[in-house]
Amino acid sequence: MKLCVALDLPRYEENIALIRQLRGEDVWLKVGLRSFIRDGEAILKEIKSIHPGFKIFLDLKIHDIPNTMADAAESMVNLGVEMFNVHASSGQKAMRMVMERVNTFQNPPIVLAVTALTSFDHASFEAIYHKSITHKVVDFAKDTYESGLHGVVCSVFESKLIKHHTGDDFLTLTPGIRPFGEGADDQERVADLTRAKEEKSDFIVVGRPIYQSNDPLGVVQKILERLS
Ligand code: C5P
Repeated sequence: MKLCVALDLPRYEENIALIRQLRGEDVWLKVGLRSFIRDGEAILKEIKSIHPGFKIFLDLKIHDIPNTMADAAESMVNLGVEMFNVHASSGQKAMRMVMERVNTFQNPPIVLAVTALTSFDHASFEAIYHKSITHKVVDFAKDTYESGLHGVVCSVFESKLIKHHTGDDFLTLTPGIRPFGEGADDQERVADLTRAKEEKSDFIVVGRPIYQSNDPLGVVQKILERLS
């Protein structure tokens, strides 16, 4: 299981300060919408210049018509990131086109699809999708698997079930992690490290419990100790 640290701090300089503290640690860094819209490619270059060994997950969750998604996917490959994601609800046609394009490159990045956002509770999810989270997430995961992507973004609670319906090597990346039982913030379906391990999550995403702590490096090291 790998740790992916969410770089969701309000200012560029704060993200950079956090990245510098984590230099030398075996972590992935997640660049999300806020940071990428504001800082663009500069943040990606800066991450690699601080430590070339950092792996980058570009979390833009793209969702558009198939051709636009394939073009955007190509742009993300050209940015040199190691992982990016799309929305599974964009459908099989779009996801297949993304993979056709991505697979024309040597050493393509990992491509994941978002199933259900971890901020959804059951009632608000069903109001949009008219199906339970568990059933719909399995449908999305199967679509993603059949479209040739490498895995999905899901909550810890669906990770094992998804692997059961797809394959053990189909990756799950799980946000909504509160490693040592910290407060949930705006997340509805949170889990701790023990549960994430039991549910065979491949990547855990942790944001606020790290960057809002007084000792982000200490929290990261404590998590990494538990993962090894
Ligand atoms: O601070 P926290 O640990 O809750 O941050 C979780 C991160 O994971 C945020 O950057 C959020 O955008 C992202 N994310 C999520 N749920 C998803 C996909 C991504 O929380 N389903």
